[in-house]
Amino acid sequence: MKENAKQIKLTIDGREITVEDSLTILEAARQNRIDIPTLCHHPAVSNWGGCRLCVVEVDKSPKLVASCVMPVRAGMEVITQSDAITASRRLTLELLFAERNHNCMFCPQSGDCELQKMAYALQMDHLMVSPSFNAYPTDTTGEYMTLDHNRCILCGRCVRACQEIAGSYVLGFHNRGSKSLIGFDLLEKRENSSCINCGACLQLCPTGAISNRYRTHYAVKGQPVESQTITSVCAACGLLCPTQNKVRDNQVIAIEGLVAAKPNGRPDRGQLCYKGRFEMLKTKGTRMLAPMVKDDQGHWREQNWETALDRITKALGAAKSNGGSEALFGLASSSVCNETLMMFKELMSAGWGAGRVDTIDGQYFRNLAASQDNGAQGLPAETSWKKIAAADMVLVVGADPQQSHPMLVSLLRRAMIERALPIASIGQMESATLFSNHYLAVEDGGLAPALALLAGKIASPAKEGKAKSSLSAQQQAEIDRIARAFISAKSPLILAGQHLTGPDSAGTLQDLFRIARSKEPLTGKSAMISFLKPEGNSMAAWRLGVAARLAKPGKAQAGVLIVDGDPDEVKAALAGLRPAPKFLAVITPYFNSVLAEMAQVMLPSPVWMEEDGSYTSMDGAESVFKPKVLDAPKGVKNTWEILQALGQRIDAPGVGKRWEDIRAKAAQLLAVS
Ligand code: SF4
Ligand code: SF4
Ligand code: SF4
Ligand code: FES
Repeated sequence: MKENAKQIKLTIDGREITVEDSLTILEAARQNRIDIPTLCHHPAVSNWGGCRLCVVEVDKSPKLVASCVMPVRAGMEVITQSDAITASRRLTLELLFAERNHNCMFCPQSGDCELQKMAYALQMDHLMVSPSFNAYPTDTTGEYMTLDHNRCILCGRCVRACQEIAGSYVLGFHNRGSKSLIGFDLLEKRENSSCINCGACLQLCPTGAISNRYRTHYAVKGQPVESQTITSVCAACGLLCPTQNKVRDNQVIAIEGLVAAKPNGRPDRGQLCYKGRFEMLKTKGTRMLAPMVKDDQGHWREQNWETALDRITKALGAAKSNGGSEALFGLASSSVCNETLMMFKELMSAGWGAGRVDTIDGQYFRNLAASQDNGAQGLPAETSWKKIAAADMVLVVGADPQQSHPMLVSLLRRAMIERALPIASIGQMESATLFSNHYLAVEDGGLAPALALLAGKIASPAKEGKAKSSLSAQQQAEIDRIARAFISAKSPLILAGQHLTGPDSAGTLQDLFRIARSKEPLTGKSAMISFLKPEGNSMAAWRLGVAARLAKPGKAQAGVLIVDGDPDEVKAALAGLRPAPKFLAVITPYFNSVLAEMAQVMLPSPVWMEEDGSYTSMDGAESVFKPKVLDAPKGVKNTWEILQALGQRIDAPGVGKRWEDIRAKAAQLLAVS
């Protein structure tokens, strides 16, 4: 309920209703299950009143009004259905169809199009006006979406989504009259524009004007066929954005954000990014449908599960007899779920007594922990990324959010445009110009001197005059400006990225903490810091102790890997182990040549959409359960079942036999304090 809103009475179609006086007629009608058709209206963005499909009669006036923008008032009498109203809606609809090419049979959106649905509802089987047949351009330059102006009805939903949800302000109206177009920036092609490929415009477009290049066409004879919508979560980064997955015949047709008319407890308003909306739809390789074992000649052969598991058990057993616990190691992608990480740790540490269990990004946390200067264990006190909303200045350093946590770009940009939030960025970021007032571009090697100088200017300004720096005069002037913005802020937030935690990062992180603590004398607490963790479940890996220890070069002989990501990163993570381990078993969904070269056994696991599991957010504040969206192909076992089967072979102390017990144990271990 809005502040100062009063309850009023009005009648719609002769029915008396009581609603808040802050509503529009459309909102009041929908609250009371009275249907009014709309096209340019979408509850997640502001009202516009452009299409006039929602016209109604008010107080017997012959002049119809657009119900989506007309506020209610006490005593109002509204009629939503009459011959005059139907004729008006029908004429509007015919003009929309006649204006451009809406030949539905050849449109990829046919069957899932609001314009088409409206034509069915108003029984529009022919046009009273002649179609224009003007040809409009198409833009197929985008990596993820196409734009066909011939299908556009100029409803402006995409423009408002781009501004109000994505915060991008890329889309706008151009030209006049019949030449009107929506366009990117100053009528650039999408690929040359400042579009961040979030797809908010695609999700809100009611027609086939904006199309998803990775979506399966699912219409049959122009009518939607049976499909299911499964609410889940994107775990491609630790922001864990909620998703809605449209599924038909065990295939994902589209992934959409949970766009909300009202605040949903998250600052993103249902935003997704290119990773969550499109990258998940890409096929990443050839699926394995049975375990694969390398024979003595180095050829891969399909085997049954028993044979493959036996081979692993024997190889690990032999390595342990030879070299003790240091001979064994485990390495997992920290994009797998809490339950898998927990079971993997138990299996490798308590079960096989492996000396080292790690994740591919484990070094990130070890460097962070090692650089603390207060002697305490664990990470420095962290705050949530959601505090962008409470910050009066943001310093982004050592990260490119568009690469690592893309939805943050929208939040930052919205904050910059809507409330003039000062934002400074230091590092190598293609996206910095989208959201920064100040940007100091430095390569990874330049971060250390830049932060040293900034820390000097902010934390010890008296000494700073004497400090020497390798940075250019222009760079030093930009640091001056960033320092001034940070000093004048009362509650700044630092978003610190992965590039700050390289092998020689101890000094750089110390400088970062000095900058944060410079606020203590004045406010009694340090500036807020949020670390942008590399992977979707990095925080859980760290908390569960999976990222605690690295395999020892020269000692590691046999390992088990869980890979759900880039195989080249796995190769890089193992590059330091010399000589290379003699035996590797890899649990992964895809048969991949990089992994196949290193491994002796490969076990097929589900892709993330095919497996239940919970994930812990980047700030560690919550663990969110992600239900499976698809069924795994026949022959593929759940990852937890594979780990359980391996554990049973060596009588490892299990964490539970049933999935429910495993889930409960992981939740208990990761309980948010
Ligand atoms: S993809 Fe996102 S940023 Fe690009 S035009 Fe659409 S809403 Fe705007
Ligand atoms: S592209 Fe779609 S959402 Fe944008 S104005 Fe055209 S029809 Fe409306
Ligand atoms: S910001 Fe992160 S969690 Fe959200 S959709 Fe993108 S990758 Fe997924
Ligand atoms: S829905 Fe009301 S004018 Fe378009």
